Amino acid sequence: MKLVFGVPVLALAVCALAATFPEAPTGFDNKSNGIVDDATHAVDQAKFDEVEQVPDGLGPLYNAQSCRECHQNPTSGGSTQISELRVGHRGPHGRFENPEIPIAHGTEIIKGRSLVNDRAICPSAAFPATEIEERVPDSGQIRTFRVSLNLLGDGFVEATPDQTFVNLAKEQCNKGHHKICGQALYVPIIEAPGQTAVGRFGWKDQQASLLSFAADAYLNEMGITSRLQPDEVTNLCNTVREPNDQPGSDGLSDIDHFARFIRATKAPARDAQLAATPKAREGAQLFAKVGCEQCHVETLTTASAGTPLNGGTLTVSAALADKQFHPYADFLLHDVGTGDGIVQSMTEHYGKKMYSITWKNLSIPAFEGSANKIRTAPLWGVRLHSRLMHDGASVTLLDAIVRHKGEAEQVTEKFEKLKSNEKEALLEFLRSL
Ligand code: HEC
Ligand code: HEC
Repeated sequence: MKLVFGVPVLALAVCALAATFPEAPTGFDNKSNGIVDDATHAVDQAKFDEVEQVPDGLGPLYNAQSCRECHQNPTSGGSTQISELRVGHRGPHGRFENPEIPIAHGTEIIKGRSLVNDRAICPSAAFPATEIEERVPDSGQIRTFRVSLNLLGDGFVEATPDQTFVNLAKEQCNKGHHKICGQALYVPIIEAPGQTAVGRFGWKDQQASLLSFAADAYLNEMGITSRLQPDEVTNLCNTVREPNDQPGSDGLSDIDHFARFIRATKAPARDAQLAATPKAREGAQLFAKVGCEQCHVETLTTASAGTPLNGGTLTVSAALADKQFHPYADFLLHDVGTGDGIVQSMTEHYGKKMYSITWKNLSIPAFEGSANKIRTAPLWGVRLHSRLMHDGASVTLLDAIVRHKGEAEQVTEKFEKLKSNEKEALLEFLRSL
C-alpha cells in the first residue's frame, strides 16, 4: 500500500524542482508569447485564418479551407468539434493496411494514406465529368474519427528536449511495475532529411516539428502543396502549379507563418477562479493520488536558449527557453484500451520521397507496435473541449475517465472507488484546467 502513496510524494518532489523555472505565459488574448512582436504575430495569425480558394491550390481533395476552421475555440489555435475520418483494414498477415479508394469511376486509386478526405473541388464547371470524392470502401473495416486538437502553447512542447520524454517513459514504467509504460516514438523531421525526434504532436505522435506538421496539415487537410510536401494526393482537376505554397515578399511561405504563429502562442490559461476553490484544490490532490498524473504529467520544462531542435533546423528562442508549463501530459503513446488500430502512414505524413531517405533512429516495427496506442491527451484547456478522446465519442469528463482501460485500468479502478464527493472534486479540478 505504501507505494500507492509513494507516487504523489515523488511527483511533489519533481514539482518543487521545476518551481525554480519561470512560468510560460498563458492566455487567450491573441498576443505573442514573446518570440515575435505582436504585429508580426497578427500577420501570422491572418495567414492561419485565411480562407483558401481553388486558385490558391485548394484541393483537389481536402477537408476544410482554413486552419482556423478546425482550430478556433476560444480563439485561433484552439480546438474545435470538427473531426476527420481515418480507415484501413487488416492484410493477409494481420498487419494494418491503408485503404485503396477508387475515384473518378475507378480511373485512379488513392493509396498510402489512412485519411479519407470529406471534400473535393470537382465535379465543377471546368471538370463537369470528373467526380473524385473519396468514400470509405466496404473493405475498410477499421474506422475511426479523430477530433481536432488544441495548438495553443505547442511551441513550449516543441522546445522540450527528447530526453525528457525518454526519461518519463522509463520512470513511469519502473515506478508502476511495468503496468504503465509509455512509448516514445522517433519520427522524421521533414525539413531535416535523415533526422528524427521524439514525436509529440497529433493523436498518434506522428510529428515532432511544428513546421513538419504545418506542411502535413496544409497538404492533407487543405490539399495545398508546399516545399516540404510537394506532391498532390491526386492530379485530377488540379490546375495550380506545384508547390502551391510559394514564398511571399518576406521570403516566407504560408507553412513558415503557420509554424511561427503556433510557436508564438501562449499556453491555455486555467480558470483562475475555479482553480482557487477548496474543491478544485482537493481534486488536484486526488488526481495525483489515484495516479492520473503518471500519464497526465503536470509540469514540463523547456530546453535552454540556443538548444538545437528539429534536426538542427531550429534553435530554442530566449522567449521559450527554460520555462515550466503545465500540459498535464507525458506526450507518450499508451494503450488505454481505446486504440483505433491504425498505423500511421509514412508517405501520407512524411512525403512521397520518405522511403528514399535513411532516417536515424526510425523503426518501422515501433510504428506498427503503436497501432492501438494513443498519445496521452494534454488536459490543459480541456474545459473548453466539447468532444473528448481521440474519436470525440465521450461528451463528458466522467465518460472519458471511465473509458480508460488497458495501461490505465488500475488507475480507473482507484477512481471508481473514490467517494462521490471526491469524484466530484476531481471533476471540478478538471473543469478548472
Ligand atoms: C479539417 C480540420 C482541420 C484543418 C483544416 C486543420 N487541422 Fe490541424 N488538426 C486537425 C485534427 C483532426 C488534428 C488531429 C489529427 C490526428 O492526430 O490525427 C489536428 C492536429 C494539428 C496539430 C497537432 C497539435 C498537437 O498539439 O498535437 C497541428 C500542429 C495542426 N493540426 C496544425 C494545423 C495547421 C497549421 C493547419 C492549417 C494548415 C491545420 N492544422 C488545419 C484538424 C484540422
Ligand atoms: C496510462 C496513462 C493514463 C492514465 C493513468 C490516465 N490517462 Fe487520461 N488519457 C490517456 C490517454 C492515452 C488519453 C487519450 C485516449 C484516447 O483519446 O482514446 C487520455 C485522455 C483523457 C481525457 C480526455 C481528454 C481530451 O481532451 O479528450 C481525460 C479527461 C482524461 N484522460 C483524464 C484522466 C483522469 C482523470 C485520469 C485518472 C483517473 C486519467 N486520465 C488517467 C492516458 C492516461
